[in-house]
Amino acid sequence: MKPKVSIILTSYNKPDTVHLAIESVLAQKYDNWELLIMDDHSNDKTKRIIKGFLQDSRIQYFDSGIRDEDRHKTTRYATLINEALEKVSGDYISYLTDDDIYLPERLSEMTTILNNSPSYGVVYSKQLVRKIDQSGRTVYEKVRETNGILTKPQNLVDHCSVMHRASLLPLILAKYGSYWDDSPEYWHNGDAAFWARLAEWSPFYPIPKVLDICLKTPDSFQELNAFMPKELPTGLVVLSTNENTFLIDGNIRRKIDEAAFRMLKYDRKQLVKVHDPLLYQYREGAPIEKSVFSNAKLFPNYRFIKCGKSIFYTEGGCARPIESADALRRLKADLKDFILVAPEMLEDFQIGKPISRTFDQKNPIPEGKLFLYKRHFFVSGNGELKPMEAKVLRKLKYDKSLAIPLSKYEFASFPKGESLKWEVVRWKDKN
Ligand code: TYD
Ligand code: MG
Repeated sequence: MKPKVSIILTSYNKPDTVHLAIESVLAQKYDNWELLIMDDHSNDKTKRIIKGFLQDSRIQYFDSGIRDEDRHKTTRYATLINEALEKVSGDYISYLTDDDIYLPERLSEMTTILNNSPSYGVVYSKQLVRKIDQSGRTVYEKVRETNGILTKPQNLVDHCSVMHRASLLPLILAKYGSYWDDSPEYWHNGDAAFWARLAEWSPFYPIPKVLDICLKTPDSFQELNAFMPKELPTGLVVLSTNENTFLIDGNIRRKIDEAAFRMLKYDRKQLVKVHDPLLYQYREGAPIEKSVFSNAKLFPNYRFIKCGKSIFYTEGGCARPIESADALRRLKADLKDFILVAPEMLEDFQIGKPISRTFDQKNPIPEGKLFLYKRHFFVSGNGELKPMEAKVLRKLKYDKSLAIPLSKYEFASFPKGESLKWEVVRWKDKN
């Protein structure tokens, strides 16, 4: 009897590539496999594509049914893999993501080595890494090489380039109480955390051939997460991977519909794409629709409204009058950003503190704006100035030329919040 390979495919909203991963399994020269598709409650488009493959009896499909707001709580693919490892029946285990393609000889090459070398617990191979753009065109390619027999494979070997014996799993479970470590801080390299566990029982033996192609897509977690701060600044307008737009307002996300988006003078070019585990940490607030024009309570914050000759900035559910032409100039507001509202609408607003030409505790800075002090950038929110790294500033598509310079006195008048910076926690050896 040929050993059976259990392939665990984790999937989430990759309608443009998930079929490639599944087809690459179906095209394997080696046929004794089972494929467990662990879908993290993808959108309908993705699910429809996956369901087209389920007539093959070797393929099983599981939908996690996860609520979006729970997505950030664990490294989801590790959680899904742990669930799959409870269900597998194979002798060998192999991991696949929804943006990776196994070459046809991947299973045959790997199983042959494991069959012929009973002392090998784990094998890994070379990988072709292919970065593609939104339309699927190749931006660049490189080969991730094998590096001999590895006793510390962490961060050297990709998720999709490994096959290991199922017999190692009970040993890991007995020692750690779980297979993969799904703590959320390892989202960047949960595979490294698991490789470290595996390597306690077997080195990783190289197969110096390219056996899979890893596609780096614009919507991949790593791509979207690069330079993204853990907290989004208030006033930011973002795009989800499902192409919905939201205004971030404190801890709330408010969905903006298309008509309202235009009427409220938001700019498509400024939309920042964010990954769902981050976006859905924000509670859902009232949607921003046309109806906000007839209810001041629903009108979004951080907009300029104009009624007759008066201009206001909406903030904290109020309209803050802009005190003078000088004050307006300082805000670098553009005529095209002004949203005209009828006098009846303005009457519906509570009038907030005026925005004056200089800021201090009595004349608070407008929230949700970018400021500059001694070449450092800050965003205002919650009465504070939050420092922002230059890379984060670019990622969030702030226009530096619109930053409002602060005087020393002004700068000293406001408490400084926590810095908006990019941090990536990589799994590191504790030894
Ligand atoms: P991917 O976006 O490809 O990240 P990377 O940039 O690191 O390649 O996602 C990796 C895997 O994570 C992929 O198989 C899908 C899975 N995943 C989930 O299961 N749930 C989620 O909420 C997300 C964002 C990803
Ligand atoms: Mg990926």
